[in-house]
Amino acid sequence: MSLLIKNANVIDANGNFQGDILIIDGIINQIGKEINKEGIEVIDAKGYTVMPSFIDTHAHFREPGLTHKEDIESGSKAAAKGGYTGVCLMGNTNPICSTKEVVEYVRNRAKEVGLIDVHQCVSITENFCGKSIEHLESFNDDKELVAITDDGVGVMDSSVMMKAMEKAKESNWIVMSHAEDKTFSKIDMRIAEDLMTIRDLYLAKVTGARLHMAHVSTVESINAIRRTKNEGGNVTCEVTPHHIGLTTDISSYRVNPPIREKEDVNAIIEGIKDGTVDCIGTDHAPHTEEDKKNGAPGMVGLETSFSICYTELVKNNNISINKLSELMSKNPANILRMNKGTISVGKDGDLVLVDLNKEVTIDKETFVSKGKNTPFQGRKYFGEVIKTIRGGKVIYSK
Ligand code: DOR
Ligand code: ZN
Repeated sequence: MSLLIKNANVIDANGNFQGDILIIDGIINQIGKEINKEGIEVIDAKGYTVMPSFIDTHAHFREPGLTHKEDIESGSKAAAKGGYTGVCLMGNTNPICSTKEVVEYVRNRAKEVGLIDVHQCVSITENFCGKSIEHLESFNDDKELVAITDDGVGVMDSSVMMKAMEKAKESNWIVMSHAEDKTFSKIDMRIAEDLMTIRDLYLAKVTGARLHMAHVSTVESINAIRRTKNEGGNVTCEVTPHHIGLTTDISSYRVNPPIREKEDVNAIIEGIKDGTVDCIGTDHAPHTEEDKKNGAPGMVGLETSFSICYTELVKNNNISINKLSELMSKNPANILRMNKGTISVGKDGDLVLVDLNKEVTIDKETFVSKGKNTPFQGRKYFGEVIKTIRGGKVIYSK
């Protein structure tokens, strides 16, 4: 698809620019002033900011098997509405993503829906058994596989995690860690996260594996990741909008890892400022009302992520919008090896038009996700997604 965007206030991780963007056959072809091209669709972006679309390192679309909570179509629509054109999907579906069939099913379904680009993670252990990693052999020649994870449960057995890291290193896969020592989950969720963070950082150092820490939420874990990075460790990490935007004094909403304290949020902000934190991962986790009543952890995140992050980071914490673009587009695209994330010639024509001055009140009734589980209901933020463009095609318009 080809598209010309005129009069845009362009912002990405590398800088700001006032002008036009030309997308030809899905790829950014030219950036400049007064670009003209006959016979293609034109969008006048005057008054809006144009950024690279967002990329999510962490989402749950629940298909196959749990499609009453979300499916690939509703999840893709929620992503598009939130300004996202790329997501990395977790493997805790039913069946779990441990076989080529399930992974191929998700990839094909996502292509059929055709709204966003999807990376499906494979489980670290077979069906989350915690012991066997033999199924990973069947992905040896899978060129599309980027990351393996047991997100939702984690890998308790340290020797199994070490073997998985060795295998991942050999295969050029990222190991994504849901850091939760289950033996501490009922005792102390802070120790549960910190112990596993420290273990996985150590195992990654020993094995040389490429590690990505999911939903980092504590001051101690941020500090441990900073230390590892300073020592040259091969690690990246994500933080969620809810661990930035909520603290225990304002919300007790159930999510794993749990909502933390003010000091933890401050550590996340410091980590963002000094480069310890690489990206925002929403941990979009749709559940039915009944499942939430029965204690299911998690919340939806794709449709509210930009407003929360823009308000909390840029407006309230003096972080530049270029840094926000790095966190939501450039770095996650690099981590997931997608040709996206900055507005430069040769990158995918994936953009988002946002209105930074618009105040929005979060209303779950407007969500296109099947999940309405949010603790942000009624909260007010700045910044609204007006249009999302993927490969030069408008996939969401307000
Ligand atoms: O709160 C959470 N919900 N944390 C997880 O790790 C899993 C997720 C889910 O799948 O619902
Ligand atoms: Zn998780």
